[in-house]
Amino acid sequence: MARIIIDTDPGVDDAIAILLALACPALEVAGLTVVGGNVPQARGVRNALALLEYAGQGDVPVLRGSSRPLPGQGNGKFPYAHHFHGWSGLSRRLPKPRNRPAAGGAVDFLAAQLDAAPGQVHIAALGPLTNLARLERQRPGALSQAASIVVMGGAVDAPGNSTPYAEFNFYSDPAAAQEVLTCGVPLTLVDLAACRQVAIGREAAANLRAPGNRLGQLAAQLAQNWFRREARRERFEFYDPLALAAAIAPEVLTTRRAAVSVATAAGPEWAASRVTAPDGPVAVVERVDAARFFALLREILGWEGV
Ligand code: BDR
Ligand code: CA
Repeated sequence: MARIIIDTDPGVDDAIAILLALACPALEVAGLTVVGGNVPQARGVRNALALLEYAGQGDVPVLRGSSRPLPGQGNGKFPYAHHFHGWSGLSRRLPKPRNRPAAGGAVDFLAAQLDAAPGQVHIAALGPLTNLARLERQRPGALSQAASIVVMGGAVDAPGNSTPYAEFNFYSDPAAAQEVLTCGVPLTLVDLAACRQVAIGREAAANLRAPGNRLGQLAAQLAQNWFRREARRERFEFYDPLALAAAIAPEVLTTRRAAVSVATAAGPEWAASRVTAPDGPVAVVERVDAARFFALLREILGWEGV
């Protein structure tokens, strides 16, 4: 069974990705390390705990991570995405969690897990890359001990969603994204252009069912309720679930190696991600097997109607 740490800022699509991981029989979730992003870090921690308790997996540790981006950027705060994820970050109320986050922080947890089992722990990074960048600053080379790293972020030569150039996770902490992408460690970058290929429409979401699959039912409700709240939107894109799916089943993507850089200089292209050389540590997506992705949602979450 593969062990995975999910670094996350839950978030509606993070939550669906987490449920996908928790429901996947081939994965053992070693921990959720939380970073501020879609919502403040403390709210993200609460959401992570609530999801685990709903899933009956309250023994999975939740670790507090960064509540601010790396210093020296913008106003020093995460921009948050309440306009997309709602005030709470989730589109369904869950009971107040009984558990507390584990002692110690996200960075120490990541370091300890990677040290204890070099080459055996996978990482899926679904939020701003602040925790991973801080890990690499404190323990250079730590990330090279991961079995694999999948990052959801960036808009490689594609329009952004925070600005015309920048994707939200990279926009939230471009310096962290730049440090992680250029530290030399191989990683797969699931960018916006890839995620835009796996979306669900309003009507299809309304028809989603997951008979007998509790985690699949919650994941479906999260998407359905999001459409109820967002009367003017017609597509829900599976950003973080695609990154998680790539960790479970790498064949869902076809990639090519490249060097990718994230713009950290002030200006309109701040946080833009660009291929800077044809060879490098980053596997950028060339093709998404959308049919395989939706088959995974059916297999693991028991979804019918997609
Ligand atoms: C990314 O930003 C967040 O809002 C989503 O959770 C996803 O990780 C998409 O740009
Ligand atoms: Ca996210």
